Amino acid sequence: MIVLGIESSCDDAAAAVIETTEPGRAVVRASVVANQDDIHAAYGGVVPELASRNHVVAIMPVVERALRTASMTLSDIEGIAVTKGPGLVGSLLVGLMYAKGLAQSLDLPLVGVNHLEGHLLAPLLEHGVPMPFVALVASGGHTSLFLAEDFGCYRTVGRTRDDAAGEAFDKVAKLMGLGYPGGRVIEELSRGGNSKRIRLPRARVKGAPMDFSFSGIKTAVAVFLRGEQALTVTPPDLAASFQEAVVDMLVAPTLAAARQLDTRAIVLSGGVAANQRLRTRLAEAASAEGRQLFAPSLKYCTDNAAMIALAGSYRLLAGERDSLNLDAQANLPL
Ligand code: KG4
Ligand code: ZN
Repeated sequence: MIVLGIESSCDDAAAAVIETTEPGRAVVRASVVANQDDIHAAYGGVVPELASRNHVVAIMPVVERALRTASMTLSDIEGIAVTKGPGLVGSLLVGLMYAKGLAQSLDLPLVGVNHLEGHLLAPLLEHGVPMPFVALVASGGHTSLFLAEDFGCYRTVGRTRDDAAGEAFDKVAKLMGLGYPGGRVIEELSRGGNSKRIRLPRARVKGAPMDFSFSGIKTAVAVFLRGEQALTVTPPDLAASFQEAVVDMLVAPTLAAARQLDTRAIVLSGGVAANQRLRTRLAEAASAEGRQLFAPSLKYCTDNAAMIALAGSYRLLAGERDSLNLDAQANLPL
């Protein structure tokens, strides 16, 4: 089955074409992302109104480019999967309305996909991952641990009590005057730094070993930058010390979940999964306990439509379809 995926939940408009014959297995024929980082960088974060307005301009060319890259036309498409939430409601609506229009005019089955399920299944675009697995989904808006027992059968086992991990990267980058989005800049700066130079606190949630908390580290960096010691520490040392602390705070609950739920496979996904230090540390910690880490390549870590197409395709293959009453849900839980 040839599935068109459409994603517009935040500031990236994306389209993808995948070919699939069984749940969780697909060949990506095209995956195109129109990134708006340059537009939002001036404001130090995503401006929802600007994001949705730019999606209106980007969505059609992105779908056309995906079809061209796949050497296909709309008449080759057999089903459409579109992100229905969670996300910015104005942004979600653009992708959703466009997908509904296509589905109605071409008489194609349409399914709405939870963005988090997309991230959770993204590693399956490139690897066979045995279920059940524990998945750490860490992005700008979410940091959660899920247990995936089967397609469509997921349980939230841990969550952040305050900020998301990507949000911590973005806020600390802003405090350091590094611009937006912060994750990639902090990672690059960290390469020349000493992660042991500053001892930053590692927060653990009392009585909830699978939960996260990142607001304290952001405050710790803010306090540090106001103090005298800030004058003697280089930005690469601060970046590396901060990154190491966040990695520690992501690795410990993830391993705790894999141990408690007794899964051999661990999945790492979401924008923060692009962080090489996190990938290395989590892979090492997993293999030290006889477990295996599966993380998507960088292009499938950040928001993309291939993961949305994959997450919708097992339902399309089963003959499911949503009605055209399908609505955007900003706070949709998994
Ligand atoms: O999944 P994503 O593209 O969008 C959301 O759904 O939020 O994630 C974006 C987040 C941003 O907070 C960004 O700073 C973070 O992922 N990020 C990174 C890296 N690349 C992106 N964080 C740490 N290291 C990176 N290399
Ligand atoms: Zn995302």
